[in-house]
Formats: sequence, structure tokens, C-alpha cells
Amino acid sequence: MGGSHRRVPSVIYNPSVPSVKRIGILTAGGDCPGLNAVIRAVVKGALHRDSPIEVVGILDGYSGLVEDRLQALTESDVSGILVRGGTILGTTNRDNPFQYTGDSNTDPIDRSKEAIATIERHRLDGIIAVGGDGTLRCAMEFGKRGVPVIGVPKTIDNDISGTDVTFGFDSALTCATDAVDRLHSTAESHHRVLICEVMGRYAGWIALHAGMAGGGDIILIPEIPYSIEKICDSIRLREKRGRNFSIIVVAEGAKPLGGKYVTHGHYRGMDKRPRLGGISHQIADEIEETMNDEVRVVILGHLQRGGTPTAFDRWLATHFGVRAVILAEQQKWGQMVALKGTHFGDLPIAEAVGQLRRVDPKGGSVMAARAVGTSFGD
Ligand code: F6P
Repeated sequence: MGGSHRRVPSVIYNPSVPSVKRIGILTAGGDCPGLNAVIRAVVKGALHRDSPIEVVGILDGYSGLVEDRLQALTESDVSGILVRGGTILGTTNRDNPFQYTGDSNTDPIDRSKEAIATIERHRLDGIIAVGGDGTLRCAMEFGKRGVPVIGVPKTIDNDISGTDVTFGFDSALTCATDAVDRLHSTAESHHRVLICEVMGRYAGWIALHAGMAGGGDIILIPEIPYSIEKICDSIRLREKRGRNFSIIVVAEGAKPLGGKYVTHGHYRGMDKRPRLGGISHQIADEIEETMNDEVRVVILGHLQRGGTPTAFDRWLATHFGVRAVILAEQQKWGQMVALKGTHFGDLPIAEAVGQLRRVDPKGGSVMAARAVGTSFGD
């Protein structure tokens, strides 16, 4: 599936075991509605095989492997969790065993051998890693060191290559669309410009889809650099037509032409990756400086990641979980589950990581949005 022509790094796996008896599951990266639905599907799916497979939960993402925090999962542990946001597997975080800092602010060290020792000590025949690009990269690194892994793609940003959609995206989109819907009446009542900032670090899927679904007038995404003049032109054009309010939906990772991301602070740990957020305030200030309009800002932030998953995400997460168990049973290690069109399949994790799936500025959705008069500020 996928048909990518990228070179796939060689991966050495443990010799096959006669049959898979016991697997671990971990959830890592930012949380995302549907994590619990995957865990439930893996546990139930594994226990209901002809030769049942035991499932052990690895707590707190990859830290649980490094620091040996595991817990057997029974069917009753996963009963009722389908609708719950977050993860039942402790916390979720971005700890990387190959550059491990844990909770400390010390220099990162490679603790992957301890993680592998945990897998061996608990006699896990393989692990299912549920996460985004960072989590899947770690899974691939473990694969190179002989650890049997299966990947399940997760992120509200919907930017993992090799799959058309990740679970969590639809829940975030539903939240963002609801917000845009609500902003319409208040923007119209006050004749204001309202800016709704949504998540989307490098990819503008949430902004694009919520902007289209909510009838946003201007959509700003990382893939299409904007200019304030063009944004103001669109607002003026609407005003000329008697539309004295405008809704702008902006991804946190949107940038002005030739400009930079707006960040506030850094992530903890040694990679010191900047945290995005606040672009909407910059845009609001610039519009107010250029025009006579009143502008207000709403940053949805983690509202998009919390709460119960939508029906679609529960469905998708359940498929992904069940398929991950089947791949483990077949010992198709190193694969990631995926949905392409209407077909559930899998592809090497190595083909999916390291190249984020971004919005095509000339693709069908952008064209459709432009066709109904939406501006991308370009
Ligand atoms: O990767 C998903 C995501 O929700 C991004 O859109 C966002 O930039 C980031 O996570 C925020 O993560 P955190 O909760 O760690 O600040």
C-alpha cells in the first residue's frame, strides 16, 4: 500500500516466535481523542482471537518502557473507555528513550537498552506504539535494534504520511467547526472581524476543513504564506458587499510571506522545540493598524484535543486497533496500520515517518474553498 519510492532503512527483527502470545501497547506524544478506543480494540481484539493474545499496557509512553512501568490489561480494564478522551495508560508525553531526559532538565542520554530489557523481562513478543511522527520514529529506531513493533498513527493534526486520515482529527475538526459556527452570530452582531486560531503545527488540515465546514471567509494555513494586505483586501471586499463582519480561521503554524512562526516558550527537555501559538493576536493587531475594524481573537488550543471522540474517530480507532493486533499475530513487524480511500491496510513505518502529509496548495480542497470565495490571504 502507499507506493512510496523512498528508500526504507533496513530493519532487523527478532527471529519469529512460533506464535505471538503477549504484546505490549503504549500511547505517546500529545494526547488525542480515540487513544482509549484503540487500546480497547487492541485488548478485546487480542483476547478474542482463536489463540488469545495477552495485552500488557505500558504506562506513560516510552518512559514506561525505560522505567519499567507496565500493567496487564483485562477486558474489564477497557470496558466503558470507548467514549473517553485521554489515555488510560498513565500519562502521555514526548519522552524519547534514545535521548531520554524524563522529568529532569539534565542532558539527554540513550536509555533504549533499558527499554529493550523491559520488553524482554516482561516476555513481550512485540509492542504496538500508538502515536504521531515522533512516536513512530522511535518505534522505527527500536525496529532497527530488533524490537518487533507495529505502529498506529495518531494526531489531531492529520499530518502522518501513508494514511489518508488519523484518528483524533475528526474530533478536533468537529470542535473547531462548532467554534466557527458560534463565532458567526457574534461577529455579525458587532460587525467585527473574529479570528479563530486552531492547532496545526506544520499542516493546515484542521483550519482548512473547519474553515470550509464553518464557512470561514479567510483561511490561513502553514502551506500558503499570507500577506496582511491581501487579508485586508478580502475584508474590504466583503464590506463593499454589505457583509460587515468576517471570520478568519488560522492554523497556529501559519506564517506571513517571508515571516516566521509565532511561538511562546519552549518544550521542556533538551530539544527545546518552540511551542506555537498566538499568531492570531499578531494578525489582529496588524488588521487593526491597517483598517478601522474591531478585531477579536479566540484561541481554541487544547479544547480541540479534549473530550469524547466523535463517532468517526471511535470507528477509525477501533479498526486501527483490531488491524494492529492482526499484524502482530501475523508478525508483520515494522508495519503501520493505515486507511487509504476505503481500504484498511498497512505500510512500513519507515515509509510513513519523517515526511509530514501537508495540504496541497493546489489540491482539490483549496480549489473548492477558493471557488466559493474563500481567501487564503495570498
Ligand atoms: O501535534 C499535535 C499538536 O496538537 C499540535 O497541533 C500542537 O502544536 C501541539 O500538539 C501542542 O502540544 P502540547 O500540548 O504539548 O503543547
